[in-house]
Amino acid sequence: MKTIENIMVIGAGQMGAGIAQVCAQGGYTVYLHDKNDEARTKGINTIDKLLERSVQKQRISAQEKEDALKRLTLSNRLQDAEQADLIIEAVVENLQVKASIFHELDKIAPTHTLLASNTSSLPITELAAHTKRPDQVIGMHFMNPVPVMKLVEIIRGLQTSEETFQTIEQLARNLAKTPIAVNDFPGFVSNRILMPMINEAIYTLYEGIATVEDIDTSMKLGMNHPMGPLTLADFIGLDTCLYIMEVLHEGFADSKYRPCPLLRQYVKAGWLGKKSGKGFYNYS
Ligand code: NAI
Repeated sequence: MKTIENIMVIGAGQMGAGIAQVCAQGGYTVYLHDKNDEARTKGINTIDKLLERSVQKQRISAQEKEDALKRLTLSNRLQDAEQADLIIEAVVENLQVKASIFHELDKIAPTHTLLASNTSSLPITELAAHTKRPDQVIGMHFMNPVPVMKLVEIIRGLQTSEETFQTIEQLARNLAKTPIAVNDFPGFVSNRILMPMINEAIYTLYEGIATVEDIDTSMKLGMNHPMGPLTLADFIGLDTCLYIMEVLHEGFADSKYRPCPLLRQYVKAGWLGKKSGKGFYNYS
C-alpha cells in the first residue's frame, strides 16, 4: 500500500470543500485548489464555519479546529500538484473538463501520485485513459454533505491496480468513512438508484400530478425518506442531477433514463437549487 501524507483537492465547491475539511481533520496536509478566487474564499469560509459549529456542539475542541485549519492551504496553481501523494478532483460533472484536468495533472504530479475523481457518474476508465498512469486512477465518490455522510463509493476503472484500490480504501477508513467497492458503470450504485427516482419525482411535478410540497411529503411520510426527492435535488444541484441523468441515458442507451424536460428548463434558467438561491424551492 502507498503512503499518503499530502492531498490536493481540485475544486472548492460544495464537495471539494467538504473533502478538504475531512482530510485536514483526518491529519493530512491539504492543498485546496480552485481556478476561481471567489470559490476558494467561499470554500475556506464554509470549512471555518462548519468546524466552528462542531466546536460549539463539543464534537471537536478549539485546538482540533485550529490544527485542521493549519493543515489546509489554498491554491490557485495547478502546479501545487507537485507536492501531492494523492489528488482528489471535484470540479463540475463534465467529462471534457475533468479529462483535461487529468491530462494536466498527469504531467505535473510525481510518478507515485494517485489520481482520484469524486465524479458522481462519469467513467473512471475514460478519465484514466487521459493519463499515462491508468493503474493509479480511481473513483472516490463521497456523499453530500461530506463531513456528515459515512459512505464512500470506491470505483475501480478497468486498469486500476489492486495497490491503488487498497490505498484508497484504507484512506476512506482513516477518514472515518465506510467504503464500498463498485465497478465502473454509469451512475455506479448510488446514483443509478437515486437519480431515476429524483427524475421521476420531477416528471410527477411536470405532469401536474401533485405540488412540490406534496411530492416531497409523499416520500417523507409514505416511504420514511429523511428528505423529499425535490428537496434533495435542490440540495445536490439541478445541473449535477441533469449531468448524471445524461450520463445514464447515454451510457445505457435506454429511454427509461430520459431527463425530464422540466429539469432541463430549470437548469437553462439558472435555477440550480440551493447553491443558486432557487430550484424547486426558494432559498433567498
Ligand atoms: P460545485 O459547482 O459546487 O463546485 C465545483 C467547483 O469546481 C467550482 O468551485 C468551480 O469553480 C470549480 N472548477 C470548475 N472547473 C475548474 C477547473 N478547471 N479547475 C479548478 N476548479 C474548477 O459542484 P459540486 O456539487 O461540488 O460537485 C463537484 C463534483 O462532485 C461533481 O463531479 C459532482 O458530480 C460530484 N458530486 C456532487 C455531489 C452533490 O451532491 N453536489 C455528491 C457527490 C459527488
